[in-house]
Amino acid sequence: MPTPRSVSFDSRGIQLFGHLYEPPTASADRRKAAIVVGHPFGGVKEQTAGLHARQLAQAGFVALAFDAAYNGESGGSPRNLEDPYQRADDLRNAVSYLSTLDGAVDPSRIGVLGICASGGYVPFAAQSDPRMRAVATVSAACFGDLTRNGNLSDPAAKVTPAQLAGLLEMSADARTQVARGGEVQRVQHLPDDEAQVPKDLSPTGMMREAWDYYKTPRGQHPMSTQHEAVLGIGLRANYDSFAFNHLISPRPLLMIVGENADTRYQSERAMEKAKEPKELYVVPGRTHVGLYDNTSGHMQKLVDFMAESLCK
Ligand SMILES: *[C@@H]1O[C@H](CO)[C@@H](O)[C@H](O)[C@H]1NC(C)=O
Repeated sequence: MPTPRSVSFDSRGIQLFGHLYEPPTASADRRKAAIVVGHPFGGVKEQTAGLHARQLAQAGFVALAFDAAYNGESGGSPRNLEDPYQRADDLRNAVSYLSTLDGAVDPSRIGVLGICASGGYVPFAAQSDPRMRAVATVSAACFGDLTRNGNLSDPAAKVTPAQLAGLLEMSADARTQVARGGEVQRVQHLPDDEAQVPKDLSPTGMMREAWDYYKTPRGQHPMSTQHEAVLGIGLRANYDSFAFNHLISPRPLLMIVGENADTRYQSERAMEKAKEPKELYVVPGRTHVGLYDNTSGHMQKLVDFMAESLCK
């Protein structure tokens, strides 16, 4: 099992901390290809991003899982701010960092993988950063779209225009409060107590699954609290992960999604916006969060895709 090394790098003046997984000497020669792995909203590098990075390293790649700015061990204030543009730049800066690892990484062989919200930030960053030579997502979701519309496959998780207007008022008020010297307002997206998860949500919906992952020993981590700085809502309400996906071509795009994921439509839409080469890979019977900690239906696909795209 590859043990990660703690590393740090700069992202727009914010110090980010990551875990660099290096391949064991006995593994396949991947020609110093490296993969940046972005974590979900509210997640940290030790959870699904770390699991994917570790398994990619086992398959012979250098892999970097890192905490986004404002999250986990990484710097940035206010804490738990979800700023899509910073998130995308963190990914670009992770590529810059890997590009400096002379002797360990070939800068012309760097791929990117984004999980959940990072499945939006990764294509977005790649659209304008040609150093990202292969682009992959797992359970992708555009956080801008989810903010504007909610989850379209869960009737109880929809956001109406009036609700969105209310959220924007709340976010704007939170800014004014900070300017007056007040506290940064934060909301908690997942309740600590399972009984407080809204009952009317679909039983296969992401929120129930997310509770099971983030709030139980299955995936919980002390630095992944599922809090968010309210003023971030205003930063992402008009953000669109996939609008410029055509710019990724001719670099390859692979989007992996569970057959029964309530966010499957997000990857399908993202594919429509992309040009060839592109592939939507559906894992039979799996859900959105189901791919976070069970990679058995998609890791080989991911490894083959990265090897084909980066190692020739
Ligand atoms: C893990 O995923 C595989 C492939 O999708 C599936 O066959 C298996 O049942 C899953 N395991 C668990 C514990 O859910």
